[in-house]
Amino acid sequence: MIKKAIIPAAGYGTRSLPITKVIPKEMFPINNKPSIQYVVEEAIAAGIDQILIVVSRSKNMIVDYFDDSLELEMFLQKANKSALLDKVKRPNIQIFYTRQAYAGGLGQAVRLGKEFVGNDPFAVMLPDDLIVGRGIKELIDVYEEKNSHVLGLTEVETERLQNYGVIQGSKVEQGLYEIRHIVEKPKQDPPSNLAVTGRYVFTPELMAALEKVVPDQTGEIQLTDGIQRLLAAGKCYGKVLTGQRFDIGSEKEYIDMQHMLFKQQRKDQH
Ligand code: G1P
Repeated sequence: MIKKAIIPAAGYGTRSLPITKVIPKEMFPINNKPSIQYVVEEAIAAGIDQILIVVSRSKNMIVDYFDDSLELEMFLQKANKSALLDKVKRPNIQIFYTRQAYAGGLGQAVRLGKEFVGNDPFAVMLPDDLIVGRGIKELIDVYEEKNSHVLGLTEVETERLQNYGVIQGSKVEQGLYEIRHIVEKPKQDPPSNLAVTGRYVFTPELMAALEKVVPDQTGEIQLTDGIQRLLAAGKCYGKVLTGQRFDIGSEKEYIDMQHMLFKQQRKDQH
Protein backbone atom coordinates (compact mmCIF):
# COMPACT_ATOMS: atom_id res chain seq x y z
CA MET A 1 0.00 0.00 0.00
CA ILE A 2 1.15 3.52 -0.80
CA LYS A 3 0.77 5.70 2.28
CA LYS A 4 3.22 8.53 1.59
CA ALA A 5 3.34 11.31 -0.98
CA ILE A 6 5.83 14.06 -1.76
CA ILE A 7 4.45 17.32 -3.18
CA PRO A 8 7.28 19.50 -4.54
CA ALA A 9 6.07 23.11 -4.24
CA ALA A 10 9.31 25.10 -4.25
CA GLY A 11 9.35 26.38 -7.85
CA TYR A 12 9.38 30.09 -8.72
CA GLY A 13 6.21 29.91 -10.80
CA THR A 14 7.90 31.85 -13.60
CA ARG A 15 5.10 31.11 -16.07
CA SER A 16 2.68 33.02 -13.86
CA LEU A 17 4.81 36.08 -13.00
CA PRO A 18 4.35 38.80 -11.76
CA ILE A 19 1.64 37.53 -9.36
CA THR A 20 3.90 34.69 -8.18
CA LYS A 21 6.28 37.30 -6.70
CA VAL A 22 3.93 37.30 -3.70
CA ILE A 23 1.35 34.55 -4.22
CA PRO A 24 2.64 31.01 -4.73
CA LYS A 25 0.96 29.37 -7.71
CA GLU A 26 -0.05 26.54 -5.37
CA MET A 27 -2.29 29.11 -3.65
CA PHE A 28 -4.10 30.28 -6.79
CA PRO A 29 -7.81 30.08 -6.03
CA ILE A 30 -10.13 27.68 -7.79
CA ASN A 31 -13.66 27.92 -6.46
CA ASN A 32 -12.41 29.46 -3.19
CA LYS A 33 -9.88 26.70 -2.57
CA PRO A 34 -6.16 26.97 -3.28
CA SER A 35 -5.04 24.70 -6.10
CA ILE A 36 -2.77 22.63 -3.80
CA GLN A 37 -5.81 21.62 -1.75
CA TYR A 38 -7.13 19.68 -4.75
CA VAL A 39 -3.91 17.68 -4.80
CA VAL A 40 -4.10 17.01 -1.05
CA GLU A 41 -7.72 15.86 -1.44
CA GLU A 42 -6.72 13.59 -4.34
CA ALA A 43 -4.05 12.03 -2.07
CA ILE A 44 -6.52 11.50 0.78
CA ALA A 45 -9.03 9.90 -1.61
CA ALA A 46 -6.29 7.48 -2.69
CA GLY A 47 -5.64 6.34 0.88
CA ILE A 48 -2.41 8.29 1.42
CA ASP A 49 -2.00 9.39 5.02
CA GLN A 50 1.31 11.28 5.15
CA ILE A 51 2.41 14.09 2.88
CA LEU A 52 5.72 15.91 2.66
CA ILE A 53 5.42 19.33 1.01
CA VAL A 54 8.73 20.71 -0.24
CA VAL A 55 8.51 24.50 0.10
CA SER A 56 10.90 27.41 -0.35
CA ARG A 57 11.44 30.68 1.51
CA SER A 58 8.58 32.39 -0.33
CA LYS A 59 6.00 29.64 0.24
CA ASN A 60 5.13 30.15 3.91
CA MET A 61 1.56 30.89 2.88
CA ILE A 62 1.12 27.17 2.13
CA VAL A 63 2.25 26.21 5.65
CA ASP A 64 -0.10 28.81 7.17
CA TYR A 65 -2.99 27.64 5.04
CA PHE A 66 -2.84 24.03 6.25
CA ASP A 67 -2.51 25.07 9.90
CA ASP A 68 -5.47 25.20 12.31
CA SER A 69 -7.18 28.61 12.45
CA LEU A 70 -8.16 28.44 16.11
CA GLU A 71 -9.56 31.96 16.39
CA LEU A 72 -11.65 31.64 13.24
CA GLU A 73 -12.89 28.18 14.20
CA MET A 74 -13.95 29.44 17.64
CA PHE A 75 -15.76 32.35 16.04
CA LEU A 76 -17.66 30.09 13.62
CA GLN A 77 -18.51 27.66 16.38
CA LYS A 78 -20.00 30.40 18.57
CA ALA A 79 -21.95 31.70 15.61
CA ASN A 80 -23.30 28.18 14.93
CA LYS A 81 -21.91 28.18 11.39
CA SER A 82 -21.07 24.50 11.20
CA ALA A 83 -21.05 24.33 7.38
CA LEU A 84 -18.36 27.01 7.27
CA LEU A 85 -16.50 25.35 10.12
CA ASP A 86 -16.16 22.18 8.03
CA LYS A 87 -14.73 24.25 5.19
CA VAL A 88 -11.95 25.85 7.24
CA LYS A 89 -10.86 22.76 9.19
CA ARG A 90 -7.44 21.46 8.22
CA PRO A 91 -7.50 18.36 6.02
CA ASN A 92 -7.47 15.06 7.85
CA ILE A 93 -3.93 14.04 6.94
CA GLN A 94 -0.49 14.42 8.46
CA ILE A 95 1.53 17.07 6.61
CA PHE A 96 5.30 17.52 6.97
CA TYR A 97 7.37 20.29 5.41
CA THR A 98 10.92 20.72 4.30
CA ARG A 99 12.61 23.62 2.54
CA GLN A 100 14.54 23.61 -0.69
CA ALA A 101 17.07 26.39 -0.21
CA TYR A 102 17.53 27.21 -3.89
CA ALA A 103 15.95 26.10 -7.16
CA GLY A 104 18.08 23.00 -7.71
CA GLY A 105 15.54 21.18 -9.88
CA LEU A 106 12.62 18.82 -9.44
CA GLY A 107 14.94 15.85 -8.85
CA GLN A 108 16.65 17.65 -5.99
CA ALA A 109 13.31 18.63 -4.43
CA VAL A 110 12.13 15.01 -4.51
CA ARG A 111 15.45 13.81 -3.08
CA LEU A 112 14.86 15.98 -0.01
CA GLY A 113 12.18 13.41 0.89
CA LYS A 114 14.70 10.59 1.28
CA GLU A 115 14.34 10.30 5.09
CA PHE A 116 10.59 10.86 4.88
CA VAL A 117 10.07 7.86 2.59
CA GLY A 118 12.63 5.59 4.25
CA ASN A 119 12.07 2.07 2.90
CA ASP A 120 8.52 2.65 1.71
CA PRO A 121 7.23 3.08 -1.83
CA PHE A 122 5.76 6.55 -2.31
CA ALA A 123 3.85 8.86 -4.62
CA VAL A 124 5.10 12.14 -6.12
CA MET A 125 2.38 14.64 -7.02
CA LEU A 126 3.20 17.86 -8.86
CA PRO A 127 0.77 20.59 -7.83
CA ASP A 128 0.90 22.28 -11.28
CA ASP A 129 -1.12 19.39 -12.64
CA LEU A 130 -4.66 19.11 -11.34
CA ILE A 131 -6.62 16.03 -12.26
CA VAL A 132 -10.37 15.80 -12.20
CA GLY A 133 -10.87 12.07 -11.83
CA ARG A 134 -9.11 9.33 -9.88
CA GLY A 135 -5.59 10.68 -10.46
CA ILE A 136 -2.88 9.08 -8.32
CA LYS A 137 -5.16 6.19 -7.28
CA GLU A 138 -4.94 4.77 -10.80
CA LEU A 139 -1.15 4.61 -10.54
CA ILE A 140 -1.33 3.06 -7.07
CA ASP A 141 -3.58 0.32 -8.47
CA VAL A 142 -0.97 -0.46 -11.17
CA TYR A 143 1.83 -0.39 -8.58
CA GLU A 144 -0.03 -2.91 -6.42
CA GLU A 145 -0.30 -5.28 -9.36
CA LYS A 146 3.16 -4.83 -10.86
CA ASN A 147 5.30 -3.82 -7.86
CA SER A 148 7.26 -1.43 -10.07
CA HIS A 149 7.53 2.29 -10.67
CA VAL A 150 4.55 3.86 -12.46
CA LEU A 151 4.37 7.24 -14.24
CA GLY A 152 1.16 9.08 -15.11
CA LEU A 153 0.74 9.76 -18.83
CA THR A 154 -1.47 11.98 -20.94
CA GLU A 155 -1.78 12.03 -24.73
CA VAL A 156 -0.74 15.48 -25.89
CA GLU A 157 -0.72 17.25 -29.29
CA THR A 158 2.68 17.15 -30.99
CA GLU A 159 3.31 20.94 -30.65
CA ARG A 160 3.05 20.74 -26.86
CA LEU A 161 5.28 17.70 -26.31
CA GLN A 162 8.35 19.93 -25.96
CA ASN A 163 7.04 21.07 -22.55
CA TYR A 164 7.05 17.62 -20.99
CA GLY A 165 8.89 14.40 -20.38
CA VAL A 166 7.92 12.11 -23.29
CA ILE A 167 8.09 8.31 -23.17
CA GLN A 168 8.71 5.53 -25.59
CA GLY A 169 7.23 2.22 -24.56
CA SER A 170 5.48 -0.96 -25.52
CA LYS A 171 1.79 -1.40 -24.88
CA VAL A 172 1.00 -4.02 -22.24
CA GLU A 173 -2.74 -3.50 -22.28
CA GLN A 174 -5.18 -0.69 -23.05
CA GLY A 175 -3.76 2.48 -21.46
CA LEU A 176 -0.75 0.73 -19.90
CA TYR A 177 2.83 0.82 -21.26
CA GLU A 178 6.12 -0.68 -20.25
CA ILE A 179 8.47 2.27 -20.61
CA ARG A 180 11.71 1.77 -22.55
CA HIS A 181 12.94 5.30 -22.80
CA ILE A 182 12.12 8.82 -21.62
CA VAL A 183 13.25 12.18 -23.03
CA GLU A 184 12.87 15.44 -21.11
CA LYS A 185 11.28 18.23 -23.16
CA PRO A 186 12.28 17.01 -26.64
CA LYS A 187 12.90 19.95 -29.03
CA GLN A 188 12.41 17.64 -32.02
CA ASP A 189 11.48 14.04 -32.85
CA PRO A 190 9.48 13.21 -29.70
CA PRO A 191 9.45 9.42 -29.29
CA SER A 192 5.61 9.31 -28.93
CA ASN A 193 2.70 11.58 -28.06
CA LEU A 194 2.58 10.28 -24.47
CA ALA A 195 3.65 13.03 -22.07
CA VAL A 196 4.51 12.48 -18.42
CA THR A 197 1.89 14.13 -16.21
CA GLY A 198 2.88 15.14 -12.69
CA ARG A 199 1.84 11.92 -10.95
CA TYR A 200 4.31 9.14 -10.11
CA VAL A 201 4.68 6.10 -7.86
CA PHE A 202 8.25 5.02 -7.04
CA THR A 203 10.01 2.51 -4.89
CA PRO A 204 12.76 4.02 -2.65
CA GLU A 205 15.25 3.01 -5.37
CA LEU A 206 14.46 6.36 -6.95
CA MET A 207 16.26 8.13 -4.08
CA ALA A 208 19.42 6.10 -4.66
CA ALA A 209 19.16 6.81 -8.40
CA LEU A 210 18.79 10.57 -7.82
CA GLU A 211 21.96 10.62 -5.67
CA LYS A 212 23.89 9.60 -8.76
CA VAL A 213 22.36 12.16 -11.11
CA VAL A 214 24.61 15.05 -12.05
CA PRO A 215 23.11 18.51 -12.57
CA ASP A 216 22.23 19.45 -16.18
CA GLN A 217 23.60 22.53 -18.05
CA THR A 218 21.28 24.79 -16.03
CA GLY A 219 22.57 23.38 -12.73
CA GLU A 220 19.36 21.48 -12.00
CA ILE A 221 18.93 17.86 -10.99
CA GLN A 222 16.20 16.49 -13.24
CA LEU A 223 13.72 13.90 -12.03
CA THR A 224 13.72 12.50 -15.58
CA ASP A 225 17.45 11.68 -15.28
CA GLY A 226 16.68 9.70 -12.12
CA ILE A 227 13.90 7.85 -13.96
CA GLN A 228 16.31 7.03 -16.79
CA ARG A 229 18.55 5.29 -14.27
CA LEU A 230 15.58 3.28 -12.99
CA LEU A 231 14.81 2.20 -16.56
CA ALA A 232 18.32 0.89 -16.96
CA ALA A 233 17.95 -1.15 -13.76
CA GLY A 234 14.42 -2.59 -14.02
CA LYS A 235 10.81 -2.22 -15.06
CA CYS A 236 8.86 1.00 -15.11
CA TYR A 237 5.26 1.39 -16.29
CA GLY A 238 3.28 4.28 -17.71
CA LYS A 239 -0.46 4.56 -17.15
CA VAL A 240 -2.61 6.86 -19.26
CA LEU A 241 -4.73 8.76 -16.75
CA THR A 242 -8.44 8.60 -17.41
CA GLY A 243 -9.20 11.83 -15.52
CA GLN A 244 -9.09 15.25 -17.14
CA ARG A 245 -5.80 17.05 -16.56
CA PHE A 246 -5.38 20.81 -16.14
CA ASP A 247 -1.94 22.43 -16.11
CA ILE A 248 -2.69 25.43 -13.93
CA GLY A 249 0.58 27.14 -14.87
CA SER A 250 -1.15 27.68 -18.23
CA GLU A 251 -3.61 30.56 -18.01
CA LYS A 252 -6.01 28.86 -20.39
CA GLU A 253 -6.16 25.60 -18.47
CA TYR A 254 -6.43 27.44 -15.15
CA ILE A 255 -9.54 29.17 -16.46
CA ASP A 256 -10.82 25.98 -18.14
CA MET A 257 -10.70 24.13 -14.84
CA GLN A 258 -12.72 26.84 -13.11
CA HIS A 259 -15.33 26.72 -15.86
CA MET A 260 -15.51 22.96 -15.67
CA LEU A 261 -16.00 22.88 -11.89
CA PHE A 262 -18.51 25.71 -12.06
CA LYS A 263 -20.58 23.84 -14.65
CA GLN A 264 -20.35 20.64 -12.62
CA GLN A 265 -21.55 22.46 -9.50
CA ARG A 266 -24.52 23.92 -11.34
CA LYS A 267 -25.41 20.48 -12.66
CA ASP A 268 -25.20 18.99 -9.13
CA GLN A 269 -27.52 21.71 -7.80
CA HIS A 270 -30.22 20.87 -10.35
C1 G1P B 1 8.14 18.39 -14.96
C2 G1P B 1 8.92 17.17 -15.46
C3 G1P B 1 8.37 16.71 -16.81
C4 G1P B 1 6.88 16.44 -16.68
C5 G1P B 1 6.16 17.69 -16.13
C6 G1P B 1 4.70 17.39 -15.85
O1 G1P B 1 8.42 19.48 -15.79
O2 G1P B 1 10.30 17.50 -15.57
O3 G1P B 1 9.03 15.53 -17.20
O4 G1P B 1 6.34 16.09 -17.93
O5 G1P B 1 6.75 18.12 -14.91
O6 G1P B 1 4.00 18.53 -15.49
P1 G1P B 1 8.13 21.00 -15.30
O7 G1P B 1 6.65 21.21 -15.44
O8 G1P B 1 8.60 21.09 -13.88
O9 G1P B 1 8.91 21.87 -16.24
